[in-house]
Amino acid sequence: MIKLTHVSKTFDGGRSYAVKDLSLSVDKGETLVLLGSSGCGKTTTLKMINRLIKPTKGVIKVGGKDVMDHNPVDLRRQIGYVFQGIGLFPHMTIEQNVEIVPRLLGWSIRSRRERMQELLNLVGLPAESFAERFPDELSGGQQQRVGVARALAANPAYLLMDEPFGALDALTREALQQQLLTLKNQLKKTIVFVTHDLHEALLIGDRIAILHEGNLEQIGTKKDILDMPATKFVQDLFAIKRPGTLT
Ligand SMILES: Nc1ncnc2c1ncn2[C@@H]1O[C@H](COP(=O)(O)OP(=O)(O)O)[C@@H](O)[C@H]1O
Ligand SMILES: [Mg+2]
Repeated sequence: MIKLTHVSKTFDGGRSYAVKDLSLSVDKGETLVLLGSSGCGKTTTLKMINRLIKPTKGVIKVGGKDVMDHNPVDLRRQIGYVFQGIGLFPHMTIEQNVEIVPRLLGWSIRSRRERMQELLNLVGLPAESFAERFPDELSGGQQQRVGVARALAANPAYLLMDEPFGALDALTREALQQQLLTLKNQLKKTIVFVTHDLHEALLIGDRIAILHEGNLEQIGTKKDILDMPATKFVQDLFAIKRPGTLT
């Protein structure tokens, strides 16, 4: 469904790699977690998938077609994106934030409103109490839920989530992780979920891709990785008694 073949990205004319020769694929309905420390190219990888960044080398296919052959607008219509650091528009109400994409797509006011209500309810924020508020009138966790609702608005087949719960306190994060697990089973989207949190990766991922210093160390299920760590790095990572966080 999403397939990267020998994808590299350099920002400085080839002196250093943000992403180096990365090949992986995400199956239909699967949640793949990209796990790695800060600066290892996770955000760059997501942005290449929806064509916000052009790969220096390699091919990315979405639904069997090279992203460079997709019309970018059509491509992004199929892909919901939850940005790192929430990124709601502060001067727009929650309702306006959620319906941005449907509005761009020219949906009627009525269908936009119905969809907005459905989505806010889905993420546990009843529209009658939240639709008219502004982002700064919501807690961090609530804003993050709005970010998820916004990404789902046009019912995309794919969802890219960039450290969606990274900035939240532990309790809120756990609540949202549980909610995502429920949503994931309900919605059956193909999801790429980025995190630097080991515990979160094990909880959310059907498979996990472990990135380290530009290399894909291993990709597999939780069981594959715990039973048969492919490299010393992976082995050390999971040898920590209480799974922690890469920084
Ligand atoms: N627009 C850019 N210009 C120059 N360097 C960049 C740009 N975006 C990312 N980088 C560099 O690429 C590397 C990977 O960044 P990023 O994909 O944001 O990592 P992550 O999301 O894993 O923290 C970092 O070294 C970062 O500084
Ligand atoms: Mg990032």
